[in-house]
Amino acid sequence: MFSLNKINNSSKVLYPNLLIKKVNEKLNYYLKRYEKSPDILRKAINYSIKNGGKRFRPILCLLTAKSLGNDYENVFPTACAIEFIHTYSLIHDDLPSIDNDNLRRGRPTCHRVFGEDIAILTGDALFAEAFNIIFDYQKAEPGKKLKILNEIISATGALGMVAGQIVDVFYTGKKITKEKLNYMHENKTGKLITASVRCGAILSKARKNNLDKLTEFSKNIGIAFQITDDILDISSSKEEAGKTVGKDKKQKKNTFPSIWGIKKSKEIAEGNIERALEILSSMDIDCIELANITKFLLTRKT
Ligand code: IPE
Ligand code: IPE
Ligand code: MG
Ligand code: MG
Ligand code: MG
Repeated sequence: MFSLNKINNSSKVLYPNLLIKKVNEKLNYYLKRYEKSPDILRKAINYSIKNGGKRFRPILCLLTAKSLGNDYENVFPTACAIEFIHTYSLIHDDLPSIDNDNLRRGRPTCHRVFGEDIAILTGDALFAEAFNIIFDYQKAEPGKKLKILNEIISATGALGMVAGQIVDVFYTGKKITKEKLNYMHENKTGKLITASVRCGAILSKARKNNLDKLTEFSKNIGIAFQITDDILDISSSKEEAGKTVGKDKKQKKNTFPSIWGIKKSKEIAEGNIERALEILSSMDIDCIELANITKFLLTRKT
């Protein structure tokens, strides 16, 4: 257990860049599987995965496992599979028919480089291959493996990320209630973040009490993550964010700042982060690194 004071007072919040490197090494290894895929597909997959992403979701999965005494090695396949799903979601999110974005992770978006048809299919491939990575590399009892798959599929499907994205596109330019806005954020972004934490915990034999608390923790950081993303669209720069900024307002997107204003949105995100840290501090696990990455959300520029 750690004291909330200790984490609140710790000065500079550093992102675990060393873990980005480890995740990238594993991703590169898994990508070798596609050497025999059609040339353009292999190139589009490599282009989309091998770039400057934060790897926030896999890192959350790894840190959750570590907090419960497990080794990173035991969760890498699932952590990387989640990054495959996340990358698929970004490729599709950027498409002309969705957010029509030209820049992602500091480079032209997949469809700008390879064309819309290839980008759609590359997203489809990454979605399916995520599950192959788990099937082929994740060591766990069959029941546990099914549980992991169920977590990720549910977080992604019609009651998860896709549901949130549908609300996002359907209500673009239309008035949305605060409840619907919460639903959108919880689903389009929150559910995969929750799955990252829960999968790390399930693979680490978390007790029910800890799993419940980590789930609550992840829901709070999931919402905070999308609120800060909405704020960055207003306050960050193209160079820092690695994506086009100022586009939410132009496209009449419903965001936390558009409904609540920036000041209140920041307060709501701070409230979520505070609650997430409180939950961690109430647990008897070694969660200092989880607390650190949680705090990072309030200072992130990318
Ligand atoms: C961007 O996700 C899309 C959202 C869900 C807000 P990230 O901010 O994690 O993007 P990368 O992976 O670091 O590029
Ligand atoms: C994206 O939300 C959420 C998913 C990809 C599921 P945004 O549309 O706000 O993400 P960015 O700003 O393009 O990264
Ligand atoms: Mg979007
Ligand atoms: Mg977008
Ligand atoms: Mg955004």
